[in-house]
Amino acid sequence: AARRVSGRTAAPMAVRAGRRALVCEARKVALLGAAGGIGQPLALLLKMNKFVTELALYDIANVVGVAADLSHCNTPVKVAGYTGPEELGACLKGADLIVIPAGVPRKPGMTRDDLFNTNAGIVKALVEAVAKYAPNAVLEIITNPVNSTVPIAAETLKAAGVYDPKRLIGVTSLDIVRANTFVSEAKGLDMKDVDVPVIGGHAGSTILPLLSQTTPPVTFTEAEKKAMTDKIANAGTVVVEAKAGKGSATLSMAYAAARMAESTLLGLNGEPNIYECAFVQSDVVADCPYFATKVLLGPNGVSKVMGLGELDAFEQAALAAMLPQLKGEIQKGIDFVKNPP
Ligand code: NAI
Repeated sequence: AARRVSGRTAAPMAVRAGRRALVCEARKVALLGAAGGIGQPLALLLKMNKFVTELALYDIANVVGVAADLSHCNTPVKVAGYTGPEELGACLKGADLIVIPAGVPRKPGMTRDDLFNTNAGIVKALVEAVAKYAPNAVLEIITNPVNSTVPIAAETLKAAGVYDPKRLIGVTSLDIVRANTFVSEAKGLDMKDVDVPVIGGHAGSTILPLLSQTTPPVTFTEAEKKAMTDKIANAGTVVVEAKAGKGSATLSMAYAAARMAESTLLGLNGEPNIYECAFVQSDVVADCPYFATKVLLGPNGVSKVMGLGELDAFEQAALAAMLPQLKGEIQKGIDFVKNPP
């Protein structure tokens, strides 16, 4: 099989899925926060995905209508809507993959960390239910601040005695999608050929594209490198400002999350060589317990956390500079569960 790498293709998912004999494993995907700006288009993309057999949509509001609407699309995926904590267990039971975009998004002027006070509790409560009803599912967290919500999820799962680092993934694939798009445009390359690994975390300067490891190889002057790195790291803020108070990235995020979900399901189905960048438990960087790098996805979730590869001087400096922020945001998440104020 061809080696699949993150950013491997921008072709529509149905086309990619259509290229190979379909693995007919029954796969239930649960989406928590399914009626939101990300949740609705992500639900649509999952309803169109040939590797999904059952789609369970959960939200605290408006999800029954979303499920009814989506259920009329004549694809084989079975759709059900669940609302309110008393229906959460039924939503989660039997899920192979759980994706969480529940929570509030940024408004202009806010950092992702400004969302902590609201979203930390939402993620903790949802993950407590995951621990109870679907402890063996792969769990993908979209809710910001990802640098803190992933450690919150890990500590919550640990407290329930069901934590397995292979099955907890912070979704950073939008950063890779953006990097691939911007580098393709800047260099006049075909989108489907470009793969830019993005490492670190998912907030401001913790988002570090490794332009020196781009496939196919590209060259930038030092000034261009800095400008491109800043453009990728600030892309989310550009969308927040353009939406002017009506939310943050939703369509591109749904696209990126659908890609991550499909890669995860391919890995679960035993497809070899499925790589994506993701924020996971890691020992790649000293004293930084979670870090985003390329990971190999397999039958149990993350099969292998890949190393950093060779960084150029600019990337080494950017990595050193991000670590205090990243470590601080990770610790804030850990403390939220372990040492609540
Ligand atoms: P939204 O406000 O449009 O939707 C959020 C949904 O979550 C709403 O339908 C709401 O009812 C639901 N919700 C709130 N509390 C809930 C609970 N306790 N249980 C279940 N559902 C609940 O927000 P949007 O735009 O969909 O963004 C969602 C999250 O994704 C935000 O935290 C945002 O910052 C994050 N995000 C992450 C990105 C990433 O790259 N990882 C990129 C873009 C956004």
